[in-house]
Amino acid sequence: MEKKSNKKDQSNGIQRREFIRAGATFAAGAGLMGLGTSSVFGANSNSFAQTAIENVSLNNGVQMPILGFGTLYLNGEMGAQCVADAISLGYRLIDTATVYGNEEAVGAGIKKSGIDRNKLFVTSKVWVDDSGYENAKKAFQTSIDKLGTDYLDLYLIHRPRGDVKGSWKAMEELHKEGKIKAIGISNFEDHQIDELLKYATIKPAVNQIETHAFFQQSKARKSLLDYGVQMEAWSPLAQGRNGLFTNETLAAIGKKYNKNNAQVSLRWHYQRGIVAIPRSSQKAHMMENLNIFDFELDDTDMKTIAALDLAKTQFPEWE
Ligand SMILES: NC(=O)c1ccc[n+]([C@@H]2O[C@H](COP(=O)([O-])OP(=O)(O)OC[C@H]3O[C@@H](n4cnc5c(N)ncnc54)[C@H](OP(=O)(O)O)[C@@H]3O)[C@@H](O)[C@H]2O)c1
Repeated sequence: MEKKSNKKDQSNGIQRREFIRAGATFAAGAGLMGLGTSSVFGANSNSFAQTAIENVSLNNGVQMPILGFGTLYLNGEMGAQCVADAISLGYRLIDTATVYGNEEAVGAGIKKSGIDRNKLFVTSKVWVDDSGYENAKKAFQTSIDKLGTDYLDLYLIHRPRGDVKGSWKAMEELHKEGKIKAIGISNFEDHQIDELLKYATIKPAVNQIETHAFFQQSKARKSLLDYGVQMEAWSPLAQGRNGLFTNETLAAIGKKYNKNNAQVSLRWHYQRGIVAIPRSSQKAHMMENLNIFDFELDDTDMKTIAALDLAKTQFPEWE
């Protein structure tokens, strides 16, 4: 395919075989190799236990936690409290976006948590309406002002619409100025990545896409490994759609390990080497979602979950 043969001259003069090697290392370890760890306190719903959330190494060397906290719909004081709670429980990756309208709340939650900024990995995203060189620069500044920080760990193009080229140029410059540690994309398909790679001088570090048991994105997962772009799952629990939390197949697997459907789902993402950012407004759920590192799905479990794939979005209204 054209995609494969055209990639050797990608950004920064990095050769394609190096991309493959990075991907292969990661695949070989199923998300476990080459990962640093940051020691934090996770918990289950009954008791606290020390848990390490591993990092994945992005293609520019930046370390990103493989499990984080999503903040869609977590607004205002409630949102700030959720973010503070999540951080107190051990989450270090916090995912927000301009279009969520909650960057101030997320910033307030971070402040409330009392954690050092450099212990966190904060992601935001430039929305379609802010696309283009000048607009994206302004939007970035607004985001960091609202978040009360002077840099972002990861800044993503939220959707492949509008002036993507202009936004990417702005993001590359901000990255070179040290204001963004890693730049990436969200909701990009292969052909849109190929288009971006024609002019990018920095390859995206991450592509954040809808991924859960009912939309497993196996083809995208393989091609992102090929590109050397870290895959990140949005709606890793499908927001409970299609009955994810009561699905009998997931429940039967969970029963063997004394885990619930959310935990089985998140463990499945982890074993596929995918960064997941579950959102919760309840401390008990936040704790459950962290408590996925003390069991392992076996090959049969993974194959059984693979068979749940409906291979289509559960969010057609966002298409
Ligand atoms: N880039 C994009 O286009 C895009 C799109 C969508 C989302 N995102 C990001 O991805 C994050 C996660 O996706 P999402 O918020 O759409 O959905 P999600 O994380 O898949 O699901 C969130 C829902 O699951 C429930 N839940 C969480 N943990 C649970 C548990 N252990 N047991 C039972 N229920 C549980 C939550 O309810 P409770 O509050 O009651 O726990 C909430 O209703 C977002 O918050 C956002 O940061 C990005």
